Amino acid sequence: MLNLAVFVSGKGSNFHSILRAISAGEINAEVKLLVSDKKYCGAFDIAEQNGIDKISVSEISKSGFITYKELFDLLHELQINLIVLAGFLQKIPVEIVSAYSYKIINIHPALLPAFGGKGMYGINVHKAVFESTAKVSGATVHFVDNDYDKGRIIAQQAVDVSYAEDPEDIAAEVLQVEHKLLPFVIKKFSENKIVFENGRVKVLL
Ligand code: GAR
Repeated sequence: MLNLAVFVSGKGSNFHSILRAISAGEINAEVKLLVSDKKYCGAFDIAEQNGIDKISVSEISKSGFITYKELFDLLHELQINLIVLAGFLQKIPVEIVSAYSYKIINIHPALLPAFGGKGMYGINVHKAVFESTAKVSGATVHFVDNDYDKGRIIAQQAVDVSYAEDPEDIAAEVLQVEHKLLPFVIKKFSENKIVFENGRVKVLL
């Protein structure tokens, strides 16, 4: 059984899609902890409804938050095997990235390596895609390293956005894809079906 920690900053619809896949028996995993850089965000309500512990983390010591050092110890204590960034907008400290090398994945709401990097999150990404006049967008799940959105790509799914009227339309189309792609990758990870071949990541059938 895979022990997951899910990191979020927002409403948590991707977090919800993971919980749905677990309770449907599609993924053999348990979410041991929900982590946010916010004191409160919508995902906390989902955690509460599902009896999942939640915690807020900060780079500096402040009331209502634990530090990343304390989080590091907690992840170890909970025997976390995979950290899932599901709309988490802060950079993960290098100590955690090193200790969980190839055990941290992120979902990005565009087809990397385009439309990624610092400041490219949430609706900013969809605005950039809309303004670029690109006809295709999509979702990417990748391993996390020390650069924003640069880690090796595990899986991608494209969507046709030719008929989008605004960035919000693109966001809605992409989110639907995200809700399938992220649970899919977690399932494959739990089955040891994500392998490296010639520097590339391959997802086995
Ligand atoms: C998702 O679209 C996710 O891809 C994006 O934040 C949203 C969170 O939504 N992440 C990024 O932009 C990271 N660069 P959710 O809280 O409903 O899952």
